Amino acid sequence: MRIRLKKILNWIVESTSPFFRISFVMSLEFDSATFHNHLAQTTTSPIGISIERAEGIYLYDPNGKSYMDLISGVGVSNIGHRHPKVVEAIKNQVDRHLHVMVYGEYIQSSPNLLARKLNEITPGNIDCFYFVNSGTEANEGALKLVKRATGRTELISFKGSYHGNTHGSLSVSGNESKKSAFRPLLPNVKFIEFNNHIDLQKITNKTAGVIIEVIQGDAGVRIPNMEYLVALREKCTEVGAMLIIDEIQTGFGRTGTFWAFEQYGIVPDILTMAKAMGGGLPIGCFASSKKLMSLLTHDPMLGHITTFGGNPVSCAASLATIEVIQEESLLESVEEKGLLFEELLVSKHIKEIRRLGLMFAIEFKDFETVQKIVEYCLEEGVICFWFLSCPNAFRIAPPLTISEEEIKKACNIIVTGIERAHH
Ligand SMILES: Cc1ncc(COP(=O)(O)O)c(C=O)c1O
Repeated sequence: MRIRLKKILNWIVESTSPFFRISFVMSLEFDSATFHNHLAQTTTSPIGISIERAEGIYLYDPNGKSYMDLISGVGVSNIGHRHPKVVEAIKNQVDRHLHVMVYGEYIQSSPNLLARKLNEITPGNIDCFYFVNSGTEANEGALKLVKRATGRTELISFKGSYHGNTHGSLSVSGNESKKSAFRPLLPNVKFIEFNNHIDLQKITNKTAGVIIEVIQGDAGVRIPNMEYLVALREKCTEVGAMLIIDEIQTGFGRTGTFWAFEQYGIVPDILTMAKAMGGGLPIGCFASSKKLMSLLTHDPMLGHITTFGGNPVSCAASLATIEVIQEESLLESVEEKGLLFEELLVSKHIKEIRRLGLMFAIEFKDFETVQKIVEYCLEEGVICFWFLSCPNAFRIAPPLTISEEEIKKACNIIVTGIERAHH
């Protein structure tokens, strides 16, 4: 069977016109059966649109249909897709070298320059950066570091939180329905309630670390009170527990400041980041003081290791991404754009809009309504998306580069979708 298929393919390649060949190869490229049968699936109903290219806030399918990416590929493309400066930085690095060594052994230009840049844009106590490949890996490193630093084992996290899908990060994520099939997970993990001052008493001198998203993203954009985060910081300091702030979804300008914690007047002991960090390439990082991070070099030596962490191409893309955010003053217009969305997304059917900067949850009475709206928007070329742990709401988190005109156009389609879903 396989041999026959190969023969047919050869015949097509050798004896057909170039036009036919191109269309045939294109149809293989976006072949839905291959996607469904030979690429592992995460749900039984993936969105399944084909993407040929992307530019700015738009994705394009092979027929040229455009989609406005109102979710930035889930928190990644904060400066839009294929920003020319990022593409140029990637090309320049590719022309010099790709991977040359596992993390931490050789001095390479792009990780060096990226660390300097991150040092400029993080608080004074955060001056040492461990580059990894993803958000979950950044959190794994942070969780190991708090145990190593305190000699304690208890980890505290929050109900509703999401920190990633590897065993450690999953252990400190709140959604029980996503965890039970994979137990045993990490022992000695406790969950406390977001914004609940009384629960802070559960943080004690047995606690190695507390991990928190400043804004709970996948719980449907849950925003804490200022006093609560300040009290949390004080409690951690009082009992000698390390505070890990996960800015994997909120970082790189999403909420209007470079880091969301800046708006709450607190600083973490360890900061984790990923997603938008690479401008479209995979990279993550856990960051702390040099003193703390040095613990990973002894007892045991190689306390955390990774082959691809600090990949030079990803680091070059990340540096360019931060420079774009700074040079184009992207943070300055985030609040204004967020307010414009809020002004335009008006319908009696919306139960609640939760927002900080350009990070939104739009809540409705039930999941079915959300489903209808998201599907309508997709048909009309606007991509919105669900949350992992908040079925009655959908997310909007567009590239920070979105224009006023584009916001108006997108909101028009979304509001029409909302009205139609209620007919
Ligand atoms: C707050 C937060 N932490 C961690 C992660 C995990 O990141 P990754 O998917 O890169 O492993 C995510 C991903 O959605 C996230 O939103």
